[in-house]
Amino acid sequence: MNLRHAILQRLQSLQCAGIEEISRPQARKLAIALKESEAKNAPKPVSDQAGQTVQTVSTADFRPWEKRTPGPQTAQASPAQPSKSFTPRPKTTASSSSYSSSGSASSSYMAPKRTALSLEIIVPPHEDYSALPLMEDRHEALRLLGEKVRQCVRCIELVSNRTQTVLGVGNPYAELMFLGEAPGADEDRQGIPFVGRAGQLLTKMIENGMKISREENTYICNILRCRPPGNRAPMPEEAFKCRQFLDTQIDIVKPKFICCLGASAAQYLLDTTTTISRMRQREYRYRNATVVCTYHPAYLLRNPSQKAATWQDLQFLMKLMGLKVEND
Ligand code: URA
Repeated sequence: MNLRHAILQRLQSLQCAGIEEISRPQARKLAIALKESEAKNAPKPVSDQAGQTVQTVSTADFRPWEKRTPGPQTAQASPAQPSKSFTPRPKTTASSSSYSSSGSASSSYMAPKRTALSLEIIVPPHEDYSALPLMEDRHEALRLLGEKVRQCVRCIELVSNRTQTVLGVGNPYAELMFLGEAPGADEDRQGIPFVGRAGQLLTKMIENGMKISREENTYICNILRCRPPGNRAPMPEEAFKCRQFLDTQIDIVKPKFICCLGASAAQYLLDTTTTISRMRQREYRYRNATVVCTYHPAYLLRNPSQKAATWQDLQFLMKLMGLKVEND
């Protein structure tokens, strides 16, 4: 995740706190502070490969849309909500501001130019899906969630490019969830995650490597439920807008283990900019699940030399799950 993504994430947090604009000096400071704190802010693993306990990180409360204070609504509102247009905050006037740029004692002082936060990343209000994880029938809960996902029009670019939305596949009672990035062309056509070449490799990793059934023992979903055009990586604002769907899926399936496939999945889930190579072989926590990270199967298709490292990661996961690891 680059600095631009990190800044967008920070802007989203500010929006959630009800802040609608920041001054240029503030924006500059934000960029510098972000650069400096990028390394420091990496989530701390619960334990590393040697099993040594490290500080716990809790991102379980990452539901920014719920913390949002009443403020401007996006023009791209959820279909279930009446569309409200965005009303910019009135410009600060001379009488109400000490930053007056006209007349008065402060005439030599140029008001800092204000930079409006991008409308694109204002999160529309979500419906309340908190009843779904309480349903006994997880298939039905996911079916209901899938209906909501199908109606979603939050990300204009994704909505106009998608054939259909892609929620998830597998057993909603499974202990293990695999989390990918976003549907590709094949997934967009079939409406099922990981059915293309990367999906076939994932199936081999699960069935031939871990010796468990993909269909019976796993549930698979993605950071995004729509295909990004040209298979580009998800934008932070897209991941953000799709997050309630992901969190609701996690709450319905209640996995004990989540395996993030690739940097996008790991970084968005755990809200970090740490590289995937530094996150693998470690244990994190998210919403009552133990989280591990490894390379994305699509990356392995391009870089087969990383398959050995990925196998180590799967063995690390298998040990955590109490599965038998051969030759151990
Ligand atoms: N890559 C992903 O990250 N997810 C899919 O569903 C397919 C390919």
